[in-house]
Amino acid sequence: MKFDQASPPNPIDQERVVTRPHTRIEGPLKVSGQATYAYEYALPGAPTYGFVLGSRIAHGRITRIDASRAEAAPGVLLVLTHENMPAQGASDTPVPQQRKASPQLAGPDVRHYHQAVAFVVAETFEQARAAAQLIEIEYEQTPGQFTLADTVGSGKEPQDAVDSVVGEFEPAFAASAAQVDRTYTTPDQSQAPMEPHATVAHWDGDQLTLYTAHQVVHWVKRGLALTLNVPQKDVRVVAAFVGGGFGTKLLFFSDAVLSAAAARLLGRPVKTTLHRPLIFNNTSHRAATIQRVRLGADQDGTLHAVGHDTWTGNLPGGDSEPACEQTKYLYGGEHRLIRTRQSELDLPPGASMRAPGEAVGMLALEGAMDELAEQLNLDPVELRLRNDVQFDPEKGPRRPFSSRRLAAALRTGARAFGWDQRPGAPRERRDGEWFIGYGVASAFRTNLVQPSGATVRLNRGGTLTVETQMTDIGTGSYTILAQVAAEMLGLETAQVEVRLGDSDFPQASGSGGSWGANSSSAGVYAACDELRRDLSRKAGYTPANTVFRGGKVWQGAECTELSDLAGPEGVEATARMTFGELTEQFMQAGFGAHFVEVGVNAYTAEIRVRRALSVVAAGRILNPVTARSQCLGGMTMGIGSALMEALHVDHDLGLFVNHDLGEYHVPVHADIPDLDVIFLDERDDQSSPLRAKGVGELGISGVGAAVANAVYNASGVRVRDFPVTLDKIL
Ligand code: MOS
Repeated sequence: MKFDQASPPNPIDQERVVTRPHTRIEGPLKVSGQATYAYEYALPGAPTYGFVLGSRIAHGRITRIDASRAEAAPGVLLVLTHENMPAQGASDTPVPQQRKASPQLAGPDVRHYHQAVAFVVAETFEQARAAAQLIEIEYEQTPGQFTLADTVGSGKEPQDAVDSVVGEFEPAFAASAAQVDRTYTTPDQSQAPMEPHATVAHWDGDQLTLYTAHQVVHWVKRGLALTLNVPQKDVRVVAAFVGGGFGTKLLFFSDAVLSAAAARLLGRPVKTTLHRPLIFNNTSHRAATIQRVRLGADQDGTLHAVGHDTWTGNLPGGDSEPACEQTKYLYGGEHRLIRTRQSELDLPPGASMRAPGEAVGMLALEGAMDELAEQLNLDPVELRLRNDVQFDPEKGPRRPFSSRRLAAALRTGARAFGWDQRPGAPRERRDGEWFIGYGVASAFRTNLVQPSGATVRLNRGGTLTVETQMTDIGTGSYTILAQVAAEMLGLETAQVEVRLGDSDFPQASGSGGSWGANSSSAGVYAACDELRRDLSRKAGYTPANTVFRGGKVWQGAECTELSDLAGPEGVEATARMTFGELTEQFMQAGFGAHFVEVGVNAYTAEIRVRRALSVVAAGRILNPVTARSQCLGGMTMGIGSALMEALHVDHDLGLFVNHDLGEYHVPVHADIPDLDVIFLDERDDQSSPLRAKGVGELGISGVGAAVANAVYNASGVRVRDFPVTLDKIL
């Protein structure tokens, strides 16, 4: 089924099940320890344990490696190094790739700190870990570039971020009555999901089964097959439960590749988890950015010149951190100059992290908007309203947004938050020893869709089973897919069983880029649509005239029980939703507004977020419970990006120093006050038959800027070097 026109009315519009609050179906399994995560799979025969040893230099090569003492250590079954690693598919970049060969232990060259240099497999984890320390390695170290700031001006235009050059920016900016020209910096950040990257690999003859923590099952299936030089049909990937991803599990790393290779050599299952201190440098992170924002406006705040330059870096061949993207779409202005430049760095690989681009790009753009509002003595909400546009500002009215409720979000939020009570100037309002400040920022995140398929089976007895490769990384996929299927077939959610995260099921969108809920629901919709036709015909009805309700299919006053139609064998349908040209004709994005109140301590400059509100316009909200959780998580992560999160680079050694959750700070419960979320009523006819848009990344995009703007409103200190820590306020 191809979605290529505004969605006509369909059974989802009944909203009998969809849009209703529903707690997570798999919640009881998770809290009782019965949800099986990758590392927990028990296979026939005793498992073996893999341990990944990371390089202790950042750049250079291995000149000698001697594993003989490790091989002789108790319990050791195998040591893999670049000298005995089986042949692998080649890659032209040291950055792991989503769907391509991403070899490990491919040669003596070291491209980044904690790159895997050896893999030990033993009867126990402790034996493997102990033996890894016995491997003797000599390195020849060569100088590397570890400092983004030193590369500014030397970067190239990356493949994945196109410049936006519209009108004549420079003269327009120079002629503007009000100008903001500020540079913001954001640090390297780590996705740091609770569940570490982990894999259990098991071969049965030529057939590999890989239980692995991953966001998109068919990507790792393809990438791993190409890495191991085996046919894709021989690889099965299972990721039924995933403990957070935030983008790093869009890629596959040493645990997956080396467990699979070793299990094949040993003829026994190998299970490997990357230990926490390895994850920060061995896997991916969000790359640091340096962003110069230039805004030129009239005295009344109307933008005429919009400029945003981002400098970012990665290993050769890696993606950029596209921090300019939202600036292309968020506000009007006829002269635009928006550019991303990418330099080569020898730090660990940069890759996607929750809302790649917007999450850190909004820190700069929405900070600059606050500075412009202050300069013009204009309310920051009003400034944003004056620059709202209903079409892609680069392309003009011929490319409207499919839906865009930015203004409604700002107005609704301002009312609900009590924005009119905002202190008029820094240090104006005090609560004991705390200066109080309010901040606002828009929310924006591009809406993406991906092809997605599913099988639905009406079982004997009238229950329904849904099978799709879609994953649930803590987001609520199990629940919303059950709701969608229940809505389509006129069942209750309890009558639907959802099975996810297995490459034997129809290929699906997986979880990434906030496309998961809308896209995978569309796949389930397509399969249910097919099943409805089959069942209608079986009942002797005309499909177009039937209604599914209460476990029956109805035509007028006539009805047939679904359990009768299922028969002893059941009835099954498989279908796939693809998406057509609508994404070209219409710009699709989620919108919203974030409002934050902070206190800044008058003596210590400690910053406390006191309350926060997000207003979100993201199409149809399929389930307000799980969607709200996505927003709360996004807001929490946004607060972390504003106040805490930073990988600290050792500029001599070329590594992230704080590589554990003791030193890499993310918010804890005590850092997060009551958070509030308001969903605006919206149905996006162009996004999919579900009329939904992504929520998870919209939830983070802009929050941090609202925090930083509130810190300024409280303290009068404008920190442009994130995170905003108290030493920068004092
Ligand atoms: Mo997302 S950073 O595409 O998981």
